[in-house]
Amino acid sequence: MSVTKMYFGKTSDGREVNCFKITSSDGIEAEVLDYGVTIRTLIVRDKNQNPVDVVLGYDTIEEYENNDGYFGATVGRFANRICGGKFTLNGKEYTLALNNGANHLHGGVVGFSKYVWDAEEIEDGVLFSMTSPDGDEGYPGTLNLKVAVTLKNGAINLNYHAVSEKDTIVNFTNHSYFNLNGGAGDIHGHLLTLNADYFMMNDKGGLPTGEVPSVKGTAMDFTTEHAIGDAIDSDDDAVVASDGYDNNYVIRENPAAIVRSEKNGIVMTVITDQPGVQLYTANKTSARKGKNGAEYGRRSALCLETQHYPDCINHPEWPSCILKAGEEFNSTTTYSFSINKD
Ligand code: BGC
Repeated sequence: MSVTKMYFGKTSDGREVNCFKITSSDGIEAEVLDYGVTIRTLIVRDKNQNPVDVVLGYDTIEEYENNDGYFGATVGRFANRICGGKFTLNGKEYTLALNNGANHLHGGVVGFSKYVWDAEEIEDGVLFSMTSPDGDEGYPGTLNLKVAVTLKNGAINLNYHAVSEKDTIVNFTNHSYFNLNGGAGDIHGHLLTLNADYFMMNDKGGLPTGEVPSVKGTAMDFTTEHAIGDAIDSDDDAVVASDGYDNNYVIRENPAAIVRSEKNGIVMTVITDQPGVQLYTANKTSARKGKNGAEYGRRSALCLETQHYPDCINHPEWPSCILKAGEEFNSTTTYSFSINKD
Protein backbone atom coordinates (compact mmCIF):
# COMPACT_ATOMS: atom_id res chain seq x y z
CA MET A 1 0.00 0.00 0.00
CA SER A 2 1.26 3.47 -0.79
CA VAL A 3 -0.19 6.98 -0.66
CA THR A 4 1.08 9.76 -2.94
CA LYS A 5 -0.05 13.35 -2.53
CA MET A 6 -0.32 15.40 -5.74
CA TYR A 7 -1.30 19.03 -6.27
CA PHE A 8 -4.65 19.15 -8.11
CA GLY A 9 -5.46 22.86 -8.43
CA LYS A 10 -6.98 25.85 -6.72
CA THR A 11 -10.65 26.57 -6.10
CA SER A 12 -12.07 29.81 -7.50
CA ASP A 13 -11.66 31.33 -4.03
CA GLY A 14 -8.00 30.30 -3.84
CA ARG A 15 -8.07 27.14 -1.69
CA GLU A 16 -5.42 24.58 -2.61
CA VAL A 17 -6.76 21.17 -3.54
CA ASN A 18 -4.68 18.01 -3.42
CA CYS A 19 -5.25 14.55 -4.80
CA PHE A 20 -4.26 11.47 -2.79
CA LYS A 21 -3.44 8.41 -4.83
CA ILE A 22 -3.88 5.26 -2.78
CA THR A 23 -2.41 2.12 -4.32
CA SER A 24 -3.05 -1.25 -2.80
CA SER A 25 -0.95 -4.35 -3.47
CA ASP A 26 -4.03 -6.29 -4.67
CA GLY A 27 -4.43 -4.17 -7.84
CA ILE A 28 -7.03 -1.65 -6.67
CA GLU A 29 -6.17 2.03 -6.78
CA ALA A 30 -8.06 5.21 -5.90
CA GLU A 31 -7.48 8.91 -6.32
CA VAL A 32 -9.30 10.94 -3.70
CA LEU A 33 -9.43 14.73 -3.61
CA ASP A 34 -9.42 16.62 -0.32
CA TYR A 35 -12.10 18.78 -2.01
CA GLY A 36 -15.26 17.07 -0.77
CA VAL A 37 -13.40 13.79 -0.09
CA THR A 38 -14.17 13.12 -3.73
CA ILE A 39 -13.30 9.77 -5.29
CA ARG A 40 -11.89 10.91 -8.63
CA THR A 41 -10.72 7.55 -9.93
CA LEU A 42 -11.22 3.98 -8.77
CA ILE A 43 -9.22 1.46 -10.73
CA VAL A 44 -9.96 -2.26 -10.46
CA ARG A 45 -8.97 -5.25 -12.62
CA ASP A 46 -11.27 -6.86 -15.17
CA LYS A 47 -11.39 -10.58 -16.05
CA ASN A 48 -8.27 -10.18 -18.22
CA GLN A 49 -6.41 -8.32 -15.46
CA ASN A 50 -6.72 -5.05 -17.38
CA PRO A 51 -7.20 -1.90 -15.27
CA VAL A 52 -10.64 -0.28 -15.51
CA ASP A 53 -11.58 3.04 -13.92
CA VAL A 54 -15.11 2.36 -12.64
CA VAL A 55 -16.14 5.86 -11.55
CA LEU A 56 -16.96 9.06 -13.43
CA GLY A 57 -14.90 12.14 -12.69
CA TYR A 58 -13.17 15.21 -14.04
CA ASP A 59 -9.66 16.43 -14.81
CA THR A 60 -9.92 19.87 -13.21
CA ILE A 61 -11.07 21.46 -9.98
CA GLU A 62 -13.10 23.99 -12.02
CA GLU A 63 -15.29 21.16 -13.33
CA TYR A 64 -15.80 19.79 -9.80
CA GLU A 65 -16.76 23.27 -8.62
CA ASN A 66 -19.03 24.20 -11.49
CA ASN A 67 -20.73 21.00 -12.64
CA ASP A 68 -23.84 19.58 -11.01
CA GLY A 69 -24.33 16.02 -9.77
CA TYR A 70 -21.86 15.64 -6.85
CA PHE A 71 -19.57 13.32 -8.85
CA GLY A 72 -17.67 11.09 -6.38
CA ALA A 73 -18.22 13.44 -3.45
CA THR A 74 -18.84 12.90 0.22
CA VAL A 75 -22.21 14.42 0.95
CA GLY A 76 -23.43 15.92 4.24
CA ARG A 77 -24.50 17.16 6.73
CA PHE A 78 -27.64 15.48 5.45
CA ALA A 79 -27.52 13.52 2.18
CA ASN A 80 -30.69 13.46 0.05
CA ARG A 81 -33.68 15.76 0.49
CA ILE A 82 -35.37 17.43 3.44
CA CYS A 83 -38.87 18.69 2.68
CA GLY A 84 -38.99 22.49 2.61
CA GLY A 85 -35.60 22.43 4.39
CA LYS A 86 -37.56 22.33 7.64
CA PHE A 87 -37.45 20.08 10.66
CA THR A 88 -38.14 20.24 14.39
CA LEU A 89 -35.64 19.00 16.95
CA ASN A 90 -36.16 19.22 20.72
CA GLY A 91 -39.20 21.44 20.09
CA LYS A 92 -37.30 23.97 18.00
CA GLU A 93 -37.91 24.48 14.31
CA TYR A 94 -34.87 24.73 12.03
CA THR A 95 -34.80 26.09 8.48
CA LEU A 96 -32.02 24.89 6.22
CA ALA A 97 -30.65 26.43 3.03
CA LEU A 98 -32.86 25.61 0.03
CA ASN A 99 -30.90 24.49 -3.03
CA ASN A 100 -33.28 22.12 -4.82
CA GLY A 101 -36.42 24.05 -5.66
CA ALA A 102 -38.23 24.48 -2.35
CA ASN A 103 -36.22 21.69 -0.71
CA HIS A 104 -32.82 21.06 0.86
CA LEU A 105 -30.56 18.59 -0.99
CA HIS A 106 -27.21 17.02 -0.09
CA GLY A 107 -26.29 19.45 2.69
CA GLY A 108 -27.32 22.71 1.02
CA VAL A 109 -25.60 25.44 -0.96
CA VAL A 110 -22.16 24.80 0.54
CA GLY A 111 -22.39 21.22 1.72
CA PHE A 112 -19.48 19.02 2.80
CA SER A 113 -18.80 18.20 -0.87
CA LYS A 114 -17.48 21.76 -1.27
CA TYR A 115 -15.20 21.86 1.75
CA VAL A 116 -11.45 21.34 1.45
CA TRP A 117 -10.80 18.77 4.19
CA ASP A 118 -7.66 18.14 6.25
CA ALA A 119 -5.91 14.92 5.32
CA GLU A 120 -3.45 12.56 6.96
CA GLU A 121 -2.08 9.20 5.88
CA ILE A 122 -3.25 6.21 7.91
CA GLU A 123 -2.82 2.47 7.57
CA ASP A 124 -4.34 1.40 4.20
CA GLY A 125 -5.39 4.92 3.17
CA VAL A 126 -6.16 8.49 4.13
CA LEU A 127 -8.14 10.01 6.98
CA PHE A 128 -9.99 13.20 6.01
CA SER A 129 -11.43 15.52 8.66
CA MET A 130 -13.41 18.73 8.80
CA THR A 131 -15.41 20.89 11.21
CA SER A 132 -18.81 22.20 10.28
CA PRO A 133 -19.72 25.20 12.46
CA ASP A 134 -22.89 25.62 14.53
CA GLY A 135 -25.56 27.02 12.17
CA ASP A 136 -23.79 25.75 9.01
CA GLU A 137 -26.46 25.81 6.25
CA GLY A 138 -28.97 26.06 9.12
CA TYR A 139 -27.95 22.90 11.05
CA PRO A 140 -27.53 23.06 14.82
CA GLY A 141 -24.27 22.18 16.58
CA THR A 142 -20.60 22.29 15.67
CA LEU A 143 -19.92 18.94 14.03
CA ASN A 144 -16.58 17.20 13.68
CA LEU A 145 -16.54 14.62 10.92
CA LYS A 146 -13.79 12.23 9.91
CA VAL A 147 -13.96 10.04 6.83
CA ALA A 148 -11.39 7.27 6.52
CA VAL A 149 -10.90 6.08 2.95
CA THR A 150 -9.03 2.79 2.92
CA LEU A 151 -8.27 0.12 0.34
CA LYS A 152 -8.06 -3.45 1.51
CA ASN A 153 -8.78 -6.90 0.07
CA GLY A 154 -10.05 -5.58 -3.27
CA ALA A 155 -12.43 -3.11 -1.62
CA ILE A 156 -12.74 0.58 -0.90
CA ASN A 157 -14.01 1.24 2.63
CA LEU A 158 -15.57 4.50 3.72
CA ASN A 159 -15.78 4.95 7.47
CA TYR A 160 -17.65 7.98 8.82
CA HIS A 161 -17.08 9.13 12.37
CA ALA A 162 -18.88 12.21 13.71
CA VAL A 163 -19.43 14.02 16.99
CA SER A 164 -21.60 17.11 17.51
CA GLU A 165 -21.55 19.65 20.32
CA LYS A 166 -25.38 19.99 20.22
CA ASP A 167 -28.13 17.59 19.21
CA THR A 168 -28.25 17.60 15.42
CA ILE A 169 -29.16 15.45 12.43
CA VAL A 170 -26.72 13.61 10.19
CA ASN A 171 -26.77 11.53 7.05
CA PHE A 172 -23.53 10.96 5.16
CA THR A 173 -23.01 9.23 1.86
CA ASN A 174 -20.61 8.96 -1.02
CA HIS A 175 -22.00 10.05 -4.37
CA SER A 176 -19.81 8.03 -6.76
CA TYR A 177 -21.17 7.45 -10.24
CA PHE A 178 -20.22 3.89 -11.16
CA ASN A 179 -19.85 2.52 -14.64
CA LEU A 180 -18.18 -0.88 -14.48
CA ASN A 181 -17.35 -0.69 -18.19
CA GLY A 182 -15.08 2.27 -17.59
CA GLY A 183 -17.39 5.14 -18.39
CA ALA A 184 -18.24 4.04 -21.92
CA GLY A 185 -21.93 4.14 -22.83
CA ASP A 186 -24.97 3.82 -20.59
CA ILE A 187 -25.52 1.44 -17.68
CA HIS A 188 -28.72 -0.16 -19.01
CA GLY A 189 -26.86 -3.45 -19.53
CA HIS A 190 -25.39 -3.59 -16.01
CA LEU A 191 -26.94 -6.42 -13.98
CA LEU A 192 -28.24 -5.42 -10.58
CA THR A 193 -29.38 -7.21 -7.44
CA LEU A 194 -30.82 -5.22 -4.51
CA ASN A 195 -31.57 -7.03 -1.28
CA ALA A 196 -34.57 -4.83 -0.67
CA ASP A 197 -38.28 -5.70 -0.70
CA TYR A 198 -39.62 -2.18 -0.22
CA PHE A 199 -38.79 1.24 -1.61
CA MET A 200 -39.84 4.81 -1.01
CA MET A 201 -42.27 6.33 -3.46
CA ASN A 202 -41.32 9.90 -4.40
CA ASP A 203 -43.27 12.91 -5.54
CA LYS A 204 -42.23 14.83 -8.65
CA GLY A 205 -39.74 16.83 -6.56
CA GLY A 206 -37.95 13.62 -5.51
CA LEU A 207 -39.24 13.71 -1.93
CA PRO A 208 -40.66 10.59 -0.33
CA THR A 209 -44.44 10.71 -0.21
CA GLY A 210 -44.39 8.51 2.90
CA GLU A 211 -45.60 5.43 1.02
CA VAL A 212 -43.25 2.44 1.28
CA PRO A 213 -44.62 -0.03 -1.29
CA SER A 214 -43.44 -3.54 -1.99
CA VAL A 215 -41.24 -3.90 -5.06
CA LYS A 216 -43.06 -7.12 -6.03
CA GLY A 217 -44.31 -7.12 -9.58
CA THR A 218 -43.03 -3.62 -10.32
CA ALA A 219 -40.14 -2.07 -12.24
CA MET A 220 -38.53 -1.42 -8.84
CA ASP A 221 -37.92 -5.11 -8.15
CA PHE A 222 -34.23 -6.09 -8.17
CA THR A 223 -34.58 -8.90 -5.61
CA THR A 224 -33.41 -11.22 -8.38
CA GLU A 225 -30.69 -10.09 -10.73
CA HIS A 226 -31.63 -8.44 -14.01
CA ALA A 227 -30.46 -5.65 -16.27
CA ILE A 228 -31.03 -2.10 -15.06
CA GLY A 229 -32.45 -1.19 -18.47
CA ASP A 230 -35.17 -3.87 -18.46
CA ALA A 231 -37.95 -1.64 -17.08
CA ILE A 232 -36.24 1.74 -16.73
CA ASP A 233 -38.39 3.24 -19.49
CA SER A 234 -41.59 1.40 -18.60
CA ASP A 235 -44.82 3.11 -17.52
CA ASP A 236 -44.26 2.16 -13.87
CA ASP A 237 -45.19 5.19 -11.72
CA ALA A 238 -41.88 5.33 -9.85
CA VAL A 239 -39.60 5.25 -12.90
CA VAL A 240 -41.86 7.67 -14.76
CA ALA A 241 -41.69 10.14 -11.84
CA SER A 242 -37.87 10.23 -11.94
CA ASP A 243 -37.23 9.44 -15.62
CA GLY A 244 -35.48 6.30 -14.39
CA TYR A 245 -34.40 5.10 -10.95
CA ASP A 246 -33.98 7.71 -8.21
CA ASN A 247 -35.43 6.10 -5.09
CA ASN A 248 -34.42 4.95 -1.65
CA TYR A 249 -34.64 1.21 -1.00
CA VAL A 250 -35.15 -0.35 2.44
CA ILE A 251 -32.22 -2.72 2.81
CA ARG A 252 -33.27 -6.19 4.00
CA GLU A 253 -29.80 -7.60 4.47
CA ASN A 254 -26.23 -7.36 3.27
CA PRO A 255 -24.91 -7.25 0.69
CA ALA A 256 -27.27 -4.36 0.02
CA ALA A 257 -26.42 -4.41 -3.69
CA ILE A 258 -24.48 -6.37 -6.27
CA VAL A 259 -23.71 -4.95 -9.72
CA ARG A 260 -22.13 -6.95 -12.55
CA SER A 261 -20.82 -6.17 -15.99
CA GLU A 262 -21.11 -9.14 -18.34
CA LYS A 263 -18.76 -7.33 -20.69
CA ASN A 264 -15.64 -7.40 -18.53
CA GLY A 265 -16.61 -9.62 -15.58
CA ILE A 266 -16.32 -6.90 -12.92
CA VAL A 267 -18.60 -7.43 -9.92
CA MET A 268 -19.20 -4.72 -7.33
CA THR A 269 -20.72 -5.66 -3.96
CA VAL A 270 -22.04 -3.00 -1.60
CA ILE A 271 -22.08 -3.66 2.14
CA THR A 272 -23.33 -1.11 4.66
CA ASP A 273 -24.65 -0.65 8.18
CA GLN A 274 -27.05 2.05 6.97
CA PRO A 275 -30.78 1.27 6.63
CA GLY A 276 -31.22 2.57 3.07
CA VAL A 277 -29.65 2.86 -0.34
CA GLN A 278 -30.58 5.35 -3.05
CA LEU A 279 -30.47 3.88 -6.53
CA TYR A 280 -29.90 6.79 -8.90
CA THR A 281 -29.32 6.08 -12.58
CA ALA A 282 -27.93 9.51 -13.51
CA ASN A 283 -31.18 10.46 -15.18
CA LYS A 284 -30.32 14.14 -14.87
CA THR A 285 -26.70 13.93 -16.00
CA SER A 286 -26.52 16.21 -19.01
CA ALA A 287 -23.97 15.63 -21.79
CA ARG A 288 -20.55 16.70 -20.56
CA LYS A 289 -16.86 16.03 -20.89
CA GLY A 290 -15.22 13.85 -18.27
CA LYS A 291 -11.73 12.60 -17.41
CA ASN A 292 -9.31 11.95 -20.25
CA GLY A 293 -11.74 13.14 -22.92
CA ALA A 294 -14.59 10.81 -21.86
CA GLU A 295 -18.12 11.76 -22.90
CA TYR A 296 -20.73 11.40 -20.16
CA GLY A 297 -24.47 11.81 -20.43
CA ARG A 298 -27.89 10.74 -19.21
CA ARG A 299 -27.77 7.28 -17.60
CA SER A 300 -24.04 6.86 -18.11
CA ALA A 301 -23.61 5.66 -14.52
CA LEU A 302 -25.41 4.46 -11.45
CA CYS A 303 -25.09 5.66 -7.87
CA LEU A 304 -25.71 3.42 -4.88
CA GLU A 305 -25.83 5.95 -2.06
CA THR A 306 -26.00 4.19 1.29
CA GLN A 307 -27.90 6.37 3.71
CA HIS A 308 -30.59 7.07 6.25
CA TYR A 309 -33.98 7.35 4.61
CA PRO A 310 -34.52 10.69 2.84
CA ASP A 311 -36.39 13.31 4.87
CA CYS A 312 -36.50 10.84 7.79
CA ILE A 313 -36.38 13.66 10.34
CA ASN A 314 -39.95 14.47 9.20
CA HIS A 315 -41.03 10.80 9.38
CA PRO A 316 -40.68 9.73 13.03
CA GLU A 317 -41.78 6.18 12.10
CA TRP A 318 -38.49 5.68 10.19
CA PRO A 319 -35.04 5.01 11.72
CA SER A 320 -33.72 8.15 13.41
CA CYS A 321 -30.96 10.35 12.01
CA ILE A 322 -30.63 12.34 15.24
CA LEU A 323 -27.12 12.55 16.64
CA LYS A 324 -27.20 13.52 20.32
CA ALA A 325 -24.67 15.97 21.70
CA GLY A 326 -21.40 14.25 22.53
CA GLU A 327 -22.46 10.87 21.14
CA GLU A 328 -20.38 9.17 18.48
CA PHE A 329 -21.73 8.40 15.03
CA ASN A 330 -19.80 5.60 13.40
CA SER A 331 -20.72 3.97 10.11
CA THR A 332 -18.99 2.06 7.33
CA THR A 333 -19.84 1.34 3.72
CA THR A 334 -17.71 -0.96 1.58
CA TYR A 335 -17.65 -1.22 -2.20
CA SER A 336 -15.92 -4.50 -2.88
CA PHE A 337 -14.70 -5.72 -6.30
CA SER A 338 -14.29 -9.20 -7.67
CA ILE A 339 -14.36 -10.99 -11.02
CA ASN A 340 -17.01 -13.18 -12.53
CA LYS A 341 -15.25 -15.15 -15.24
CA ASP A 342 -18.27 -16.50 -17.19
C1 BGC B 1 -30.57 12.41 -6.02
C2 BGC B 1 -30.97 12.93 -7.38
C3 BGC B 1 -30.09 14.09 -7.74
C4 BGC B 1 -28.65 13.62 -7.69
C5 BGC B 1 -27.67 14.70 -7.99
C6 BGC B 1 -29.15 11.99 -6.10
O1 BGC B 1 -28.72 11.55 -4.84
O2 BGC B 1 -31.37 11.35 -5.61
O3 BGC B 1 -32.32 13.32 -7.39
O4 BGC B 1 -30.40 14.58 -9.00
O5 BGC B 1 -28.36 13.10 -6.44
O6 BGC B 1 -27.86 15.79 -7.20
